[in-house]
Parts: sequence; C-alpha cells; structure tokens
Amino acid sequence: MANARRPVIAGNWKMFKTTHEATTFVESLWQKVQSLNSAELPDIVICPPFTALASVQTCIAKLGAPFLVAAQTMESRDNGAYTGEISPLMLADLGIQWVVLGHSERRQYFNETDETVAQKTVAALKHGITPIVCVGEQLMERENGLTDAVIEQQVRAVLTQISAADLPSIVIAYEPVWAIGTGKVCEAPEANRVCALIRHFVSEYGDAKQTRVLYGGSVKADNTQALMGQSDIDGGLVGGASLEAESFVGIIKQACLVKA
Ligand code: 13P
Repeated sequence: MANARRPVIAGNWKMFKTTHEATTFVESLWQKVQSLNSAELPDIVICPPFTALASVQTCIAKLGAPFLVAAQTMESRDNGAYTGEISPLMLADLGIQWVVLGHSERRQYFNETDETVAQKTVAALKHGITPIVCVGEQLMERENGLTDAVIEQQVRAVLTQISAADLPSIVIAYEPVWAIGTGKVCEAPEANRVCALIRHFVSEYGDAKQTRVLYGGSVKADNTQALMGQSDIDGGLVGGASLEAESFVGIIKQACLVKA
C-alpha cells in the first residue's frame, strides 16, 4: 500500500525549448540524477513541446535514463481532417507514455472544456497513454468559496466517462490557477485538503488507492518537502522550475528525501 502510489515529479515545459535545448537539458538532468539513489527516485516525467518529443525520446533511450516523456496535450480522435492536431495514435507511435490533459492554459486560451478533457482522457487510456488530468479553480472562484464545487465538477466530468479498471492508470494534478507562474504557492495543508477531496471523489467510482494526485503551481525546491510530506500529495507538476536542469533536480532531490 505504501508503494502503491509511486511519487511523480513532472516538468511541464509549456512553449519553451528548441530540440537542441531539449536534448541538452535531458543530458544535463541525467548527469545530475545519476548521483542520486535510484531506489528512491520518483517517476520523472518530462513534457516537451510536440516538436521536441521525438528527439527527447531518442536522447533518453541513448542515455538509458529512467525518464518518462509526456505530450502537453493531444486531440481525442485517432485521425481525420483536423489541421494542426496531434492524435493519441501518433503519440503512441512515437512511444510517448504520458500526456498532460486539460491544463488551465488549454482551458483558458484554447477552449478546452470538461467534456473535451474527458474525451481526451478516454482516448489516452485506450492507447495505453497515462493521462495527467489537470483541474483547478481560478482566484475569483476561490474567493467566492467555490473551490470544492469547481474541483468536483472538473473531476467528475472525467470520472463518469472512464471505467473503474482505469482508475489506477490516471493521474490527477490539482493546479490552482492563481498559483501557476505567480510564485504564490498554495499552502501545503490546503493543497493536501483539495488533493484528499479529489481522492475521495475517485473513491466513489472504484478503488482510489493507486490513483496518484499531484499538486502544481509555483512548486520549487524549497516548498517541495512541505507539499510532498502531505498525506494525499503524490508529487508535483512543475512549470517554471522545470526549465533548468539544476532547479528541476533540486525538486527531485527533495522529493526523494520526503517519500524515501
Ligand atoms: P509553475 O510551476 O511555473 O507555476 O507552473 C505550473 C504549471 O502550470 C505546471 O503545469
């Protein structure tokens, strides 16, 4: 049971890094990670932009590094006349194991809805790709006491569409929108309360013991221990601090200390 929820540290690069910058990062990260105790390592997930997915995959394979690669979004359909979109079939073809879905930036700027996020989650699972489903309230919603209701709606939209057998395979990231890129981290006990609430919702659909729930929003090395020391936070989805190998490995080191 203690190991049923293996910790995860995922770095979401967003729209940053050329292919050269991406592979240089991976080489540098691997150099630093090798000095850590491999038995204590969390799942380390790197989320490059689409253009760098293949070169990051190739680089990881060449190094023999235990890193997982995630796309930052995808279309739900396998193929069709959808100019500019990337399908789960294409990601699976590249050997991509994970995908971030419903990030608040996708919801805010690219019109993703609870419904499309659910469709994409179903599609990812169908192709054996682990979805990191992002949920989170906006500042105004928090100030109006709507946090729990917003989270419930976003989480249930996905849970109602997948089978109980898939619950161990999904990862949910609680990312309060007001904490993203602001340096304003959600206090650890409150982040834990919401992550526990998410796990409670999951448990209504089946066994939630293996579902990993992450926190994201201004995660840095100096707040990782407080966050990951909480009972219901299984890791972090990191934006800005994942762009430099040095700061990203700092977070990985702290995660190793907490969940060892
Ligand atoms: P920051 O870590 O830069 O706040 O970004 C969080 C995030 O959006 C990860 O998906």
